Amino acid sequence: MKIRKVSDFYYRNMDAELNKRLTDGSLPELSTAEPIVKQPDALFTFAVFGDPQVSHYMFAREATFYATCRDLKTMPEPLDALCIVGDIAENGMSCEYRMVAKILNEVSDKINHIVMMPGNHDIRLRAFLVQQLLFRSFVKSVQNGVPPQKGKYWFACDFDACRFLIMGSDRGSFEGAHISHRQLKWLESELTDAEEQNKPVFVMNHQPLKKTNGLPGAWQGVGSWRGSVGHRSEALRTVLSAHKNVFFLTGHLHQGVCPNSFEDYGSYKCLNVPTVGANNHGSCNALSQGYIISVFRDRVEMRARLFGTGEYVPEDIPNAFISVPLDK
Ligand SMILES: [Fe+2]
Repeated sequence: MKIRKVSDFYYRNMDAELNKRLTDGSLPELSTAEPIVKQPDALFTFAVFGDPQVSHYMFAREATFYATCRDLKTMPEPLDALCIVGDIAENGMSCEYRMVAKILNEVSDKINHIVMMPGNHDIRLRAFLVQQLLFRSFVKSVQNGVPPQKGKYWFACDFDACRFLIMGSDRGSFEGAHISHRQLKWLESELTDAEEQNKPVFVMNHQPLKKTNGLPGAWQGVGSWRGSVGHRSEALRTVLSAHKNVFFLTGHLHQGVCPNSFEDYGSYKCLNVPTVGANNHGSCNALSQGYIISVFRDRVEMRARLFGTGEYVPEDIPNAFISVPLDK
């Protein structure tokens, strides 16, 4: 009862701070000149970004996340999906998830599937099973949210044009993720099945693989594993590299769109997406960045978007636009 009251107190504070920012002009101006539209020949279109890290005391985060979602509201027709690749809440607290759900529910009529996975911030501070239940009930509270099953974070979403494989740690971790043998086996089997059906697969995990997307330098920490998924990185890489048309989407690094954002390893490609809550590093460091991904019969296109201002990232920025032919 006491915990619930404290949580309500924090939530009311967050709500009041958000309302203040919505009326005092602190949100960037949103352009509606070039809203997100599905290209006529695209089979499937989705938005992906990372790390809202909405916090019960860093109130600018919720405003930045709100500004991101505001852009989705201007779309003339619903997106097939929105994927948020982890670190949804700074401290994994129920008041923080409640605020994320409130913001998402204002735009959820514009998105057919809302897919989310935990990051290290979501799982780091409390008992793993308790956090899993909290996360699941949070996703269920979002209209069109796709909740994980009880007992694990990882699951598949199968569509006609592509497949999503959502990953998540199998135990608590402060910075990395523990990917169990069971999860890797599941991943292998899903990738094999999708390959047989000739579908591109978007595998999503919060942390990138070791030595990809600018790591370890991009994390600026001591140790070769820092910023990556951690000690299961090589086992995961082995699974991904055995299949074609695999796109590994990650967050965690808070890098604005830059030369490190995309790397092509042949069978699998690594796209690291910026944060829509905290600050982005690099020369293209606007808040609220991410990508719009379109799946075509013969290719996948990824276009970087400044959601906060409703514009696409100028194409002279490296990796602002990426087109990958599918291996048929
Ligand atoms: Fe993270």
